[in-house]
Amino acid sequence: MSRYYITTPIYYPSGRLHIGNAYTTVAADTVARFRRIMGDEVFFLTGTDEHGQKIQRKAQEAGKPPKAYVDEIVDGIIELWNVLNISYDKFIRTTDDYHVAAVQHVFTKLYEQGDIYKSAYEGWYCTPCETFWTQTQLGDGNVCPDCGRSVEKAKEESYFFKMSKYQDRLVAHIETNPDFIQPPARRNEMLSFIKSGLEDLCVSRTTFDWGIKVPFDDKHVVYVWLDALTNYINALGYPENTGLYQKFWPADVHLVGKDIVRFHTVIWPTILMALDVPLPKQVFAHGWLMLDGGKMSKSRGNVVDPVILAGKYGVDAVRYYVLREIAFGADGNFSNELMINRINSDLANDLGNLVSRTVAMVEKYFGGTVEGGGEDTGLDTDLKTLALETDGVSSEEINKLLLSNALTSIWKLVSRTNKYIDETTPWTLAKDEGSKPRLAQVLYNLCESIRLIAAYIQPFMPETAGKIHAQLGASDIGRQWSNNGTFSVQKGEALFPRIDLEKELGELESITL
Ligand code: MSP
Repeated sequence: MSRYYITTPIYYPSGRLHIGNAYTTVAADTVARFRRIMGDEVFFLTGTDEHGQKIQRKAQEAGKPPKAYVDEIVDGIIELWNVLNISYDKFIRTTDDYHVAAVQHVFTKLYEQGDIYKSAYEGWYCTPCETFWTQTQLGDGNVCPDCGRSVEKAKEESYFFKMSKYQDRLVAHIETNPDFIQPPARRNEMLSFIKSGLEDLCVSRTTFDWGIKVPFDDKHVVYVWLDALTNYINALGYPENTGLYQKFWPADVHLVGKDIVRFHTVIWPTILMALDVPLPKQVFAHGWLMLDGGKMSKSRGNVVDPVILAGKYGVDAVRYYVLREIAFGADGNFSNELMINRINSDLANDLGNLVSRTVAMVEKYFGGTVEGGGEDTGLDTDLKTLALETDGVSSEEINKLLLSNALTSIWKLVSRTNKYIDETTPWTLAKDEGSKPRLAQVLYNLCESIRLIAAYIQPFMPETAGKIHAQLGASDIGRQWSNNGTFSVQKGEALFPRIDLEKELGELESITL
């Protein structure tokens, strides 16, 4: 049995999460579920990144002490993951005692071995991104080159991490391990960034206090990204290198949005090198879900609140939409209209109708039970071949984290199965008593193909897969085509009721929280 460790970034508890935020976690959950189905021992980590200037300011604005402020939001985030069926194994909070102790250990160790030294920082700071910038790195008009927002002058006594010392080792690592940063475009981007020269990194702040104290100099708090990144090992029990740590480190993949690749492929590996800890096997950067072509942000309307969308259309519709819409390496587009159209076409029409038509025919023509074992024709073999091939193809795509491609492959089978109904015209076969054995075989093949579709979508849409298997009365949910099974079907509610686009758009627009 292999072990598989997958992480999401830990989220800032600075407001309600939107559907774009949910993407990373839904994607990681899908991979974790797939790996478990494949028999791996999986550890799936998520959590919250609770310190830093940004959170401190938000708490001040809300008139609350920072811990009380984040506690409330963290509850909402955990609730969101419950709604979205996220099967995480551990939820880490950077305010947890064991994490705080481990960060202090890291800081002290690096200081004692000479990799952290005291100096003074003079430059710029982007609080929303929690990032230091030099004058030359700033965008036109002195703005953050990442997010375009204004930066603040920072001049303070600081500790620095000797990141520059690890530049050559990092370049060598990336060059000899082509999978370390994926997709390739991000890898190339990071390589040229690193080759242009790494500076030492400022790793402490003194102008606010909402953070982990530097243990030997407590007017300093640890830079929030150093604090946050180490969550990936601290959650496993670092620095005690036993138990979970021994079992699961190095991580198989850190799944991150494209905006935070640099932190994960420059700061994080160099810290690990300094700690003499092996590097994660891969950092995979996904694209963004854009809102009507622009950046999604908490202030741009709550219709993108995933809890509302899941409540209206079902959790699996939301999971399907985000996973399908963000293709490998690219950004996806979110609008209520796009989402509803997709739910109607892919889920209500293609998948939902396939299941309900098939179950209805088995009930109508055979009182609810069909058995396999009849003779196959070329048409049947064709369907069966694609059904089995889809397993290999979609599994391979999930292994490469090409989740949207995997769904596209599975939907080819959904279409093929719908086409099989048109080709075999069961309603015509039903008119002739002599064709009953053929009709039974056709309906059996349909059920078997749908059973496999449900098995393939299970990691993406666990609830729907369960409902389909229940409607089919499928005892076996494995991924092999069986020629001799039995289905005792039971009609259930429509999996994805058709949504009235105009009416829903109106309703969504009118929602205010
Ligand atoms: N706290 C840091 C991560 C620290 S990891 C050691 C952080 N948090 S975040 O809450 O701002 O973002 C969490 C994740 O949501 C990131 O992977 C980010 O890329 C992702 N997304 C934020 N907006 C997004 C979209 N609109 N679309 C897809 N992903 C998006 O960064």
